Amino acid sequence: MKINTDEVLVSHAEIEQMLERLSSELNSDYKGEPLVVVGILTGAFIFTADLVRRLEMPVIVDFMQVSSYVGEFSTGELKIKKDLSYDIKDRNVLIVEDIIDTGRTLALLKEKLLERQPKSLKICTAFDKPSRRVNDLVPDYNGITIPDEFIVGYGLDLDGEYRDFDDVRIVRKE
Ligand code: IMP
Ligand code: MG
Repeated sequence: MKINTDEVLVSHAEIEQMLERLSSELNSDYKGEPLVVVGILTGAFIFTADLVRRLEMPVIVDFMQVSSYVGEFSTGELKIKKDLSYDIKDRNVLIVEDIIDTGRTLALLKEKLLERQPKSLKICTAFDKPSRRVNDLVPDYNGITIPDEFIVGYGLDLDGEYRDFDDVRIVRKE
């Protein structure tokens, strides 16, 4: 089987526009209040780096690495591979994710982080695939809504590859 990534879904210019729009929304919403930005590894490393450089409030950048799995008798469990380095109690926290698909990972992560009593907790995603959602999770900030396709680039991977593309491409298996 051959992997074809020729079809560009989101150009680099569109990503730049998306970053401008999201950062100005964030800058006006947080009004200079300090923010803990929690990038979700590995996919969100590029988006997090691009976004924080456009933010005007004081930020602490932290990362988590998590995954969700659905057991036979459960709605899903969160596996934390890397936890935060900072205490988020009484802080404004923004989760920065690459893409929301079923919504399972972020629903579980949100629940987990709320237990730590942040002052506020919001979600910012670069891409959203709402057609795939299995719950009612809605991001507070959404970059670009995409159709039900598997995409790579701008941090997103297929088995660890293609994260370095500066645009977003559709994966076609031939
Ligand atoms: P979910 O929302 O819990 O289903 O999972 C979201 C995670 O699945 C994302 O953080 C990505 O790591 C991965 N994922 C979902 N859709 C895609 C895609 O189209 N390309 C690459 N990774 C994806
Ligand atoms: Mg991910």
